[in-house]
Amino acid sequence: MLIAAVSPGVSCEGRSPMSEASKFSAIETLRDGRRVEIRALRHEDRNGLEQAVSRASAESLRRRFFSVRRHFSEQELEFFSDIDFVSQVALVVVAQEGGGPHIVGAGRYIVLDPGRAEVAFALIDEYQGQGIGAALMRHLATIARDAGLKEFIAEVLPENTAMLEVFKKSGLHPTTRRKANIVHVTLQLS
Ligand SMILES: CC(C)(COP(=O)(O)OP(=O)(O)OC[C@H]1O[C@@H](n2cnc3c(N)ncnc32)[C@H](O)[C@@H]1OP(=O)(O)O)[C@@H](O)C(=O)NCCC(=O)NCCS
Repeated sequence: MLIAAVSPGVSCEGRSPMSEASKFSAIETLRDGRRVEIRALRHEDRNGLEQAVSRASAESLRRRFFSVRRHFSEQELEFFSDIDFVSQVALVVVAQEGGGPHIVGAGRYIVLDPGRAEVAFALIDEYQGQGIGAALMRHLATIARDAGLKEFIAEVLPENTAMLEVFKKSGLHPTTRRKANIVHVTLQLS
């Protein structure tokens, strides 16, 4: 599960300037009528990401990181927040709470090989089941296609019906292969 580990991803020698994805922003209306912004992650979101992790349940963290992780090393935090929008694209979900913006979830992909990236999502529990996972999937797929990627892969715990349903309903023709206690999902972007 590369996306949970500190990894440089694909090296970007001769790296092009940040893509248009670094300016991405969209407003989504949730099933219960609340509105959230899905936007490109900014370097200054690091504290907001840490706060979101502290609000997520142990079960949600286990489903995302395959272990209950609330504390990350400096190197890991840097990896999660220093996004070049080429080898790694990250979107955050921002909700207005108590009169101010708060990060309540995120979705990202990390390019593993040319044309192929690993995708993962996490939302704090009270924002799950509102259509945000599907919206993140749709936006990341559009960004990835524009960047010329052909395939997303993901590793999911077999009991994670919500994530598997998001993939199933994505229209990206998912295929699954179960190995030990992990479901390996492949999604076609083209
Ligand atoms: C997995 C996750 C990202 C899904 O996002 P979400 O916003 O909750 O999912 P959505 O509301 O977009 O649901 C998409 C579809 O999945 C289905 N679904 C959602 N949760 C479900 C559940 N618990 N059981 C069965 N189906 C479910 C819905 O029916 C929905 O389809 P519909 O729009 O036709 O009704 C989110 O639940 C989450 O962050 N979970 C914890 C972390 C995690 O598991 N990360 C994945 C690591 S790879």
